[in-house]
Amino acid sequence: MGTEEQGGQKTAGVSKVAPATGKLGVMVVGLGAVATTMIAGVEAVRRGLAKPIGSLTQMGTIRLGKRTDNTSPKIKDFVPLADLNDVVFTGWDIFEDNVYEAAAHAAVLKKETLDQLKPYLETIKPLPAVFDQYYVKRLNGTHVKKGKNKRDLADQVRADIRTFKKTVDRVVVIWCASTEIFIEPTAVHQSIEAFEKGLENNDIAIASSQIYAYAALSEGVPFANGAPNLTVDFPAMVELSKRNAAPICGKDFKTGQTMMKTVLAPAFKARMLGVSGWFSTNILGNRDGEVLDDPQSFKTKEESKLGSLDYIFQPELYPDLYKDLYHKIRINYYPPRGDEKEAWDNIDIFGWMGYPMQIKVNFLCRDSILAAPIALDLILFMDLAKRAPSLRSIGIQEWLSFYLKSPQSAPGLYPEHDLFIQSMKLKNTLRHIMGVDLITHLGLEYYD
Ligand SMILES: NC(=O)c1ccc[n+]([C@@H]2O[C@H](COP(=O)([O-])OP(=O)(O)OC[C@H]3O[C@@H](n4cnc5c(N)ncnc54)[C@H](O)[C@@H]3O)[C@@H](O)[C@H]2O)c1
Repeated sequence: MGTEEQGGQKTAGVSKVAPATGKLGVMVVGLGAVATTMIAGVEAVRRGLAKPIGSLTQMGTIRLGKRTDNTSPKIKDFVPLADLNDVVFTGWDIFEDNVYEAAAHAAVLKKETLDQLKPYLETIKPLPAVFDQYYVKRLNGTHVKKGKNKRDLADQVRADIRTFKKTVDRVVVIWCASTEIFIEPTAVHQSIEAFEKGLENNDIAIASSQIYAYAALSEGVPFANGAPNLTVDFPAMVELSKRNAAPICGKDFKTGQTMMKTVLAPAFKARMLGVSGWFSTNILGNRDGEVLDDPQSFKTKEESKLGSLDYIFQPELYPDLYKDLYHKIRINYYPPRGDEKEAWDNIDIFGWMGYPMQIKVNFLCRDSILAAPIALDLILFMDLAKRAPSLRSIGIQEWLSFYLKSPQSAPGLYPEHDLFIQSMKLKNTLRHIMGVDLITHLGLEYYD
């Protein structure tokens, strides 16, 4: 590998990544606001009705070689990603609504837009879900699989995947379903054998999301987790992922408030500014908000949102700046806002000689508009990982932490939350799998 500013495309061509030939089947768990906004958006882009704004795979470029080389192809022209025209969607939900009806219910996209896409969206009808209200208190589904135990349910999901596989060339599964209650790993999560016994015994610590994940990985299919649930973040799933060359990544799409946090916090730290308090509050009125109104689902989300600052600030290395940071997160269900969430952050910082200052961030965002391109990118990159010999059997795809609030990382390795480090890691991973030099941004050679 050369320095970041050296080399580049000159060594290209040694990539062993298999091409993205044929159809990519995407199985989405949970056809709610995020999923339907993503699917409708993909169809709108395919028809030339919209641009894929927010999607790195569709719009992003990647620099190769020296700055003076002026070589920055589009990412999708550099790595072999599935073409949007080759993407085929299906999914599971606890309600029978087709994607048009579910999107209308979610009320993220305008009726005129949905009506243009209606004939296509209506064709996507959910398969019956694996669901147990114990894990999502605020929902009560009717379109649900029945089975004699959790193993039986997993087998039914595996059968769904196999049936779909017959119609496409490759499959990826992504969790876009509701946030489950907070679950900590137990003995059942420690090995594949323990987990399989747990499926037989209906172990309470095995939530529905874990059943889907187990089924996908058992079929050798990559699984991305867009919610903060445990799902694939425990040893048994990592083992299964490696064994079956089925990449995993999670957890929780990094969209609004946390995306801003992981941009601002690294800036304060880079400048050695102290932070004494960070109060983050949200109001939202979609179904996700309703689910998060339950304290047990909120706890799962809270844990996911809390992690980033501690990891970025490293208070053990900078006790004078961050040891006493008070970090508080609130999420309030407020129906009038629907999907148009509002987030406020009050940040109490301090500078030279300890003098205090304040920063206020008021983000009036649209949750699913931010999340949809992330879900799409994760799908396309997970499919790429499955075709890349150096990625497919490593289990956790940490290079995708760019998209995730609470990124999974190898045991004993702290997760990287800084958005810019994550972005560099992602692009260097793409350069690496394509056999070109990495970029370190050293750049001394320009001054020789
Ligand atoms: N929108 C964002 O910005 C954002 C950001 C990060 C994470 N997320 C997470 O993404 C997930 C989806 O968010 P959303 O706004 O689309 O929520 P939503 O409530 O609109 O959609 C979730 C869907 O999942 C379905 N569902 C629930 N349990 C299921 C199961 N076991 N099997 C199949 N379907 C099931 C529900 O019926 C619903 O249709 C949530 O967990 C949310 O926390 C969203």
